[in-house]
Amino acid sequence: MAGRVVHAALAALILALSATASPVRLAGRAEPIPAFVLQNAPLSHLWSQEQWWPSDVAVHVTHMVPEVDFKPVAPAVTLGNVSSLGSDVFLTSKDDVNTQPAWITNAAGQPDASGKSTAPGTIVLVEKDGGVLDAFFFYFYSFDHGGTVLDIEFGDHVGDWEHSMVRFVNGTPTAVYLSAHSGGSAFTFSAMQKTNGRPTTYIAGGTHANYATPGKHCHDLPLDLLCDQTDAGPLWDLTLNFRGFWFDNATQTFSVAGGAVGLGAQEEAAEGAGWLSFAGMWGDEQYPVLEHGQYCIPLGDTDECRFSSGPTGPIAKNLGRTTVCQHDDDTCTVATSL
Ligand SMILES: *[C@@H]1O[C@H](CO)[C@@H](O)[C@H](O)[C@H]1NC(C)=O
Ligand SMILES: *[C@@H]1O[C@H](CO)[C@@H](O)[C@H](O)[C@H]1NC(C)=O
Repeated sequence: MAGRVVHAALAALILALSATASPVRLAGRAEPIPAFVLQNAPLSHLWSQEQWWPSDVAVHVTHMVPEVDFKPVAPAVTLGNVSSLGSDVFLTSKDDVNTQPAWITNAAGQPDASGKSTAPGTIVLVEKDGGVLDAFFFYFYSFDHGGTVLDIEFGDHVGDWEHSMVRFVNGTPTAVYLSAHSGGSAFTFSAMQKTNGRPTTYIAGGTHANYATPGKHCHDLPLDLLCDQTDAGPLWDLTLNFRGFWFDNATQTFSVAGGAVGLGAQEEAAEGAGWLSFAGMWGDEQYPVLEHGQYCIPLGDTDECRFSSGPTGPIAKNLGRTTVCQHDDDTCTVATSL
């Protein structure tokens, strides 16, 4: 009797599932990253004097304790369970950042002569209407060294997520977006400088902001008080070591894509894609004044502090954007020249 009830319920469930309009996606989309994405991925020059190199998110979390209001909410965290934490959680360094331990500077993440870093990058693909495929290339560093204004250091934080994005229309690259500080810049694909046919980008020392041209880039403050430095330093080819994912904008869920390469490919199999849904911060909350040598000084309209809060991750970078810009509004202009 009970068996028959279960059977009936199961039959009803199967009927319900097969009746839904869209295909049932239990594990999510898994096809490999298309070759055209990797062939048109940016090649990035890190700064020749960089001191805070790319890091592996899986290593980063081993040095973190999840905290809310500077109090631990769990003893530890892994990529397998980080998404169980709320959006108010700051992954917080177990070490005093002023000691600058090896995992923060991560010299081992400096790319080798081939452009390969031991730190896997993260590629996230998002399909949109009109034959659009947005390929996000996420760069992660365990530390952001902000910059100096009149020789005073500002804007350091633990954890640093930056990205570039190439928009494809029916497989053809049309535009590139480069994240920098609270905004970024967009260019037509043809406007970009190329290395072996791939767009060339320049990553600023310490802040890791992304630019289309080498040299000095001033931002946020008047009178060129705060400037990023870029040059044709070590080349980072993220396609030589990365984790790869699809993001379904309708359900806001990630799935592991096939075709990842290097250490990232090995690691992502066991980790899954859930960690990308963590909506909290990947580094320490802004310290109160005096703690860890914190100071804040009024600059422009705001208080600038030595240490700011750690950043949110890929889920918060507007993956479902319609324009190519992260700030998806009518201020998004796509430059046709550098
Ligand atoms: C995640 O898993 C690790 C290892 O099992 C455990 O120590 C930690 O407390 C867990 N953290 C959360 C937030 O569930
Ligand atoms: C992605 O989803 C968000 C939230 O539902 C929506 O506002 C946005 O328009 C979607 N993007 C695209 C390109 O469909």
